[in-house]
Amino acid sequence: MKVLVVGSGGREHTICWKFVKSSKIEKVYCAPGNGGISQVAENVDIKVNDFNRLADFVKTNGIDFTFVGPEVPLSLGIVDYFKERGLKIIGPSKAAARLESSKIYSKEFMYKYGIPTVQYNSFSNIDNALKFLANLEVNKKVVVKADGLAAGKGVYICSGRKDVASVVKQMMNEKILGEAGTDIIIEEYIDGPELSYLVFTDGETYSVMPVSQDHKRVNDNDEGPNTGGMGVYAPAPLATEELNKKVEDTIIHKVIDGIKAEKLDYKGVLYVGIIMNGSSPYVLEFNCRFGDPEAQTVFPLLDTDFVDICEAILDKNLANLKINWKKMFSVCVVLASRGYPKSFKKGFEIKGLESIRDKDSMVFHAGTKLENGKIVTSGGRVLNIVSIASDIKSAIDKVYLNVSIIKFEGIHYRKDIAWRALNGK
Ligand code: GLY
Repeated sequence: MKVLVVGSGGREHTICWKFVKSSKIEKVYCAPGNGGISQVAENVDIKVNDFNRLADFVKTNGIDFTFVGPEVPLSLGIVDYFKERGLKIIGPSKAAARLESSKIYSKEFMYKYGIPTVQYNSFSNIDNALKFLANLEVNKKVVVKADGLAAGKGVYICSGRKDVASVVKQMMNEKILGEAGTDIIIEEYIDGPELSYLVFTDGETYSVMPVSQDHKRVNDNDEGPNTGGMGVYAPAPLATEELNKKVEDTIIHKVIDGIKAEKLDYKGVLYVGIIMNGSSPYVLEFNCRFGDPEAQTVFPLLDTDFVDICEAILDKNLANLKINWKKMFSVCVVLASRGYPKSFKKGFEIKGLESIRDKDSMVFHAGTKLENGKIVTSGGRVLNIVSIASDIKSAIDKVYLNVSIIKFEGIHYRKDIAWRALNGK
């Protein structure tokens, strides 16, 4: 089989890496890909939102199906476009992708289907938002969220009325997030650990992956601005069997039922971001795709041919496929460019890549490119170093040993990934 993966980050490198391991795969293409992806797949120089050229490429090259990594092409309707042209593709339709691309739509969906979520108010008019703030306790912590897609930068935790008003003005008036912040949500702040429940779904049923925990802030101790994710581990000890059952019963089941009731065309991966309010799981957000770096973390644990999973999703036959996961722990540390998620410099040579050789460790490239035969930095998140082991402590030790081997100018990474797992939190 030939497959096309759409995207260019660490998540897409991992998906290509897993496809290549399948005996059913003859060739993997990735559009547009990156420096590391070119080592396992053929990069295709087509942008993720150029649906016409992507579909032409698929037709011309006899590609069996396409797997979409990032949310932007999904939110713009790549699945609808490919289907109109009779091409097989894995991902939710544009309407279904609104579960991620509109925070207001996803809240309304949760309320409609009785899915526990944090209380909120939505605003499309700044005067109404400011009036609402006038009645807010002066020092109350709340969360302001942009309605639209903002590449992990659309969530602000604000401490007090003045702070909220300033963020609201920046989003709605000054448009710091462009159109994404035209409409906003102001929601209650809950101080609890977060968990990522990712499921494969064919729109009828679902299969849960090992539950993971991301580290969204850029610095140790969860300090500094939010990022797309600085490191993940799985399975998270916090996700006990009891909690997983509760999440399935009170959340995931209801989401899949809601998808069916709304007649949403959803084939692919659904990512349910949970926050714990005491012992009760609440939904913080949905994403309509693999997490990044959740994908980098869980794929090395997958013990089933990924092509079989994709075929089961495409044929709506997921209920009949047993998906196996290694009984091991996985830890992923993101190596970023100093300054990320704000401004940073690029073009620095990366050294040490060839020295990571143990069979239980992987390097997935995010922001790299091949320049004059050398791999250089080309993005904010540069590399993902992943190690798996039979216990979490060994996985952490191994991954940080590998991290110490990699060098590039301006390297920045968190030194405390998976600290909660060690502290039993
Ligand atoms: N790591 C968070 C996300 O992919 O949205």
